[in-house]
Amino acid sequence: MRKAPSTCPYYDSILLLLFLFYMQNTGAYSFHSHSCNPNDLGALYGFSRSLVTQIHDWPLADASYTNCCSWPGVYCALFSSSPISSSSSSNSSVLSVTRVVGLDLSGKGLEGVLSTSLAVLDKLSFLDLSYNSFRGPIPPELFHLKLLKVLDLGRNRLSGELPLGIANLTSLHHLDVSDNRFTGNIPDVFHGLQNLEVFSAKSNGFVGRLPASLSLCSMLTSLDLWNNSLDGSIDLDFGRLVRLTTLNLGYNRLQGLIPEVFFSCKALNLLNLSLNKLSGQVPKKFSNLRSLSYLNLNGNSLSNISDALQVLQECHNLTVLGLTQNFQGEEMPGHGIRGFPNLRSLTVGNCGLTGSIPSWLRNCRELRGVDVSSNHLSGEIPSWFGGFDHLFRLILSNNSFYGEIPVSLTELKSLTSGVTLLQDDDSSSETPLFYWYRGKPIDEAFIYNSYTHFPPALDLSHNRLNGSIWKEFGNLKYLHLLDLSWNNFSGSIPEQLSSMVNLERLDLSYNDLSGSIPSSLARLTFMSFFQCSLQSFARSNSKWRWSFPCSSFERNPGLYSNFMLFCNSTLSAANHKEDDDYGEDKFVFFGVPFAVGLIVGSLPTLYLLMCWWDQNYEYD
Ligand SMILES: *[C@@H]1O[C@H](CO)[C@@H](O)[C@H](O)[C@H]1NC(C)=O
Ligand SMILES: *[C@@H]1O[C@H](CO)[C@@H](O)[C@H](O)[C@H]1NC(C)=O
Ligand SMILES: *[C@@H]1O[C@H](CO)[C@@H](O)[C@H](O)[C@H]1NC(C)=O
Ligand SMILES: *[C@@H]1O[C@H](CO)[C@@H](O)[C@H](O)[C@H]1NC(C)=O
Repeated sequence: MRKAPSTCPYYDSILLLLFLFYMQNTGAYSFHSHSCNPNDLGALYGFSRSLVTQIHDWPLADASYTNCCSWPGVYCALFSSSPISSSSSSNSSVLSVTRVVGLDLSGKGLEGVLSTSLAVLDKLSFLDLSYNSFRGPIPPELFHLKLLKVLDLGRNRLSGELPLGIANLTSLHHLDVSDNRFTGNIPDVFHGLQNLEVFSAKSNGFVGRLPASLSLCSMLTSLDLWNNSLDGSIDLDFGRLVRLTTLNLGYNRLQGLIPEVFFSCKALNLLNLSLNKLSGQVPKKFSNLRSLSYLNLNGNSLSNISDALQVLQECHNLTVLGLTQNFQGEEMPGHGIRGFPNLRSLTVGNCGLTGSIPSWLRNCRELRGVDVSSNHLSGEIPSWFGGFDHLFRLILSNNSFYGEIPVSLTELKSLTSGVTLLQDDDSSSETPLFYWYRGKPIDEAFIYNSYTHFPPALDLSHNRLNGSIWKEFGNLKYLHLLDLSWNNFSGSIPEQLSSMVNLERLDLSYNDLSGSIPSSLARLTFMSFFQCSLQSFARSNSKWRWSFPCSSFERNPGLYSNFMLFCNSTLSAANHKEDDDYGEDKFVFFGVPFAVGLIVGSLPTLYLLMCWWDQNYEYD
């Protein structure tokens, strides 16, 4: 499955590099290799002894004195004991001590509990134990390390509640406890954390309200509490959080209105409030959010789409807009909207909207993806869709569209030439995005970190379309998913469909097609990744009915019933897997274009991260 990792793999090493850079620039420390302090050494021994696993390259067998400052992941600094250190001290009588100031053991496969002996390292200002398998609670002693600037415990199996001692870490800039098993409330003890810039507690089991004291962290630029069970209203004082650029409160149980005071967050770039229980209208003052580039409101109970679009069109930098599953039963506004000049992804699915495809959509020339599935929209599919230079994902399923498919759809540039797909990436606003299918976020296995990673798709299923299936569909060489099922298409299946060499899923079932299934279709490589057996017929009524070659053609009265023959021929070519690895429950996306996109896409993130750090620490 081509599912992008949700965190940049180099993130931690970059953090460390920048940390070291920062430390050196402050002039407070120097990094000569002095022998380590015996207390520090003892603490590191104690820490490693509490682990089930070993720390690679730490010479633990040797109980005699060793210099821990040369161990991998251990960073020391020289502290002068004189009150004011003159750096070029020619006076050799000045006493100095070497202490451990940084510990970076990210992704070392460590397993065990967090030892209290870490608390002995009282000069520690950087502690990164992320991407390991630490379990159990955080020992309260850890919060005696008052010099900590960076504490990253993300991606472990830590549990219990977050200790109140966080209140004492007044130097903290960066706190990450994401992807663990913490429970209870997020303690409301952020009053003293005046330097906190980044706080992530995403993907834990936190409950209760947002801690009000977070409002006092006026340096905060990024707050990520995605995927917890937080409830209550969004009542932080955003008037004070004016530096905020990223706010992710999605996938919780927050309710009430969207606070209007967000408008003071002039730097806000990414706002994710999706999958909560928010109601009311999008506040008028959102039109002040000129930096806003990503807004995800999917899966709430908002109302007045007409007003929402009018307000949001003033956010000129908006590139991703998610409005799916709101505005139940309203009408898609046909006029009064100018359009969104920079919009790349628009999702307004499962809203029960009436009306038709609005003409203002035509002005959104940058669109890559449009999803208006599961509404009550009708009318014909406008042919101008074919004129979009970058569109690679058009999801119009479950509506009442009628007429023929505009031939122009077979000329979509990004699907015929792949240019957009190969070059485009928007990983700068990486944040989890659910893959919605027929009105539901299908499951946690289908989360992408950017809309650019969604598979190129043309889904016109469950409408009232008629006419024939154009042979020109064969031009869409970069298409991964073509679903024309549940319509009234007639005529034969064109041989040329086999030119869609990247196709992974083709569904033509429940139409009025006739003739035979072209044998050339069997050549498509995707066939080898899907099972083709009678079993799949039997299961074709299951909840997520991903199609198989066989069932893809069923229920077309005029089609020669040659699909058993067809199945047998693909079966022999197939990489047949009895254990259903590629079965209907696990839909497989892959492809070179995406892999390339993924790699290229992570570069801007690193770059932004470096800039961010630079800006924040250079003048400290
Ligand atoms: C903060 O530190 C002080 C002094 O070390 C200690 O007395 C206090 O208990 C700590 N607070 C918490 C909440 O741990
Ligand atoms: C959400 O958080 C829970 C608890 O940590 C975790 O098990 C689950 O995998 C998370 N979901 C995603 C999609 O990250
Ligand atoms: C909008 O986006 C452009 C291009 O990314 C950027 O140069 C500009 O600063 C942004 N405007 C605001 C108000 O953030
Ligand atoms: C939508 O919002 C506008 C502006 O706030 C208001 O005039 C209109 O009555 C609202 N419509 C509905 C159906 O609430």
